[in-house]
Amino acid sequence: MPITGRWGPSLACFLALFAGSVTAVPDLAFPFNSQVPPVAYVSQPYEFAFSPSTFVSDGPQISYTLSNGPNWLKLDSVYHRFTGTPVEKDVGANTFDLIASDQTGELSTSITLMVVESTDLEPDELVLPQLEQAGPTSPPTSLLLHPLQRFYLPFSNSTFRGTNESTNYYAVSADNSPLPSWIQYDPSLLLFSGTSPPLVSASATPQTYGVLLIASNIPGFAEAAVHFDIIIRHHILAFSTTSQVYDVSESVTFKTPPLRSKLQLDGQLIEDAQITSVDMDGPEWVKLDREQLSLSGTPGPSVGNTTVTIHVEDIYNNTAHVSILLQVQTSSVVDLGTLADVNVTLGVIGGATVESFWKQHQCHSHIPKCHAECQWLDRLASGAGLCNDINTIYWGNGDSDRFRSQSNEPVF
Ligand SMILES: *[C@@H]1O[C@H](CO)[C@@H](O)[C@H](O)[C@H]1NC(C)=O
Ligand SMILES: *[C@@H]1O[C@H](CO)[C@@H](O)[C@H](O)[C@H]1NC(C)=O
Ligand SMILES: *[C@@H]1O[C@H](CO)[C@@H](O)[C@H](O)[C@H]1NC(C)=O
Ligand SMILES: *[C@@H]1O[C@H](CO)[C@@H](O)[C@H](O)[C@H]1NC(C)=O
Ligand SMILES: *[C@@H]1O[C@H](CO)[C@@H](O)[C@H](O)[C@H]1NC(C)=O
Repeated sequence: MPITGRWGPSLACFLALFAGSVTAVPDLAFPFNSQVPPVAYVSQPYEFAFSPSTFVSDGPQISYTLSNGPNWLKLDSVYHRFTGTPVEKDVGANTFDLIASDQTGELSTSITLMVVESTDLEPDELVLPQLEQAGPTSPPTSLLLHPLQRFYLPFSNSTFRGTNESTNYYAVSADNSPLPSWIQYDPSLLLFSGTSPPLVSASATPQTYGVLLIASNIPGFAEAAVHFDIIIRHHILAFSTTSQVYDVSESVTFKTPPLRSKLQLDGQLIEDAQITSVDMDGPEWVKLDREQLSLSGTPGPSVGNTTVTIHVEDIYNNTAHVSILLQVQTSSVVDLGTLADVNVTLGVIGGATVESFWKQHQCHSHIPKCHAECQWLDRLASGAGLCNDINTIYWGNGDSDRFRSQSNEPVF
């Protein structure tokens, strides 16, 4: 059952009621156990801040206390946060009273926390590549939308490991309050959809909405969750890909493919005049070409895998980030340059003859390897002996592009 659908209307109802009446004691607006609190694990520290909209009151400040709470659990009234570490004997349902009080009186509500030994559920598939299917993104896990833009964001059922057909999938806002009404969530499809809200003014600062997608085999409690943000802004600056992997070798000079053509402002290739700054987080031996947005350098000895992040800022104060993992190969890699220029039809298997290329370079064992710019190739004939036995490289999918090859030994 979609938890989100359950209290949305009742919360609205409560708020409408309070708008027209003067209340005395705090009132329950958003039941604690509708907030999908996380389960607690034996011998592991637990922390859960319940939603600040759980109780409503006219008073300036609500304070919270526990009645008959389990020994392991503490409550921080100011931050409405539970902490503690349960032990073996706490396993099972821990039910007790949470009391909210202000200067006019108090209200007690019964709540339950679950303590378990362990779980089979944990996040598996990465979130960012899934967000990328829905639109421009920003690392670590943000989907970027314009105001009043329709969106459709399905998650894969392998987002979590350890699920089975009775696993429940819930969605709540990052502060455990209900999802805003413009986000529809369908738990049977793990699908978020809707239309983003307007921004109040042209100069409005971007709005960020945090969302938790929760998986659980214990109904009403969270065993595993992934977090993502939906950021709404007037102008969107983003790389069409936000992470890349590039192979480099010790003492071999490399240059990554330019990313300039992957950077878009509001869906269009950004103009130079719209870029206000280009920066990089990375080691000294990596150089950034600020115009082409490519990296180059020569890894010295004992350099390990290195992640470099390029930041680009535009005239609207947006910043786009792209991370490039420079993965150090144990055997050296040399870029052989362009093997063939090919025209590819989507869904059609094709091939290109590269015999003359191999003859020219007298190679021994080459492994064709896709550069970042042709990661759409989902099938590329590969393997040692390519140059001797296979004179054609086959590919599977994609649109018109070119591919290159690397050898695992220097050949020039
Ligand atoms: C996940 O999705 C696949 C394909 O849609 C389906 O075959 C599979 O049963 C699903 N697994 C679970 C655990 O729901
Ligand atoms: C699903 O997994 C949970 C926890 O591992 C288990 O208790 C439950 O019986 C499983 N349900 C099914 C239908 O396999
Ligand atoms: C670099 O990353 C690759 C792939 O993740 C890994 O196999 C290799 O051990 C790493 N090398 C170093 C020096 O960490
Ligand atoms: C960008 O930020 C600077 C400094 O914070 C500010 O002065 C400027 O007005 C901002 N520009 C836009 C378009 O928001
Ligand atoms: C690819 O298509 C373009 C435009 O139709 C054509 O000019 C070019 O010769 C083709 N290239 C190859 C390798 O077939």
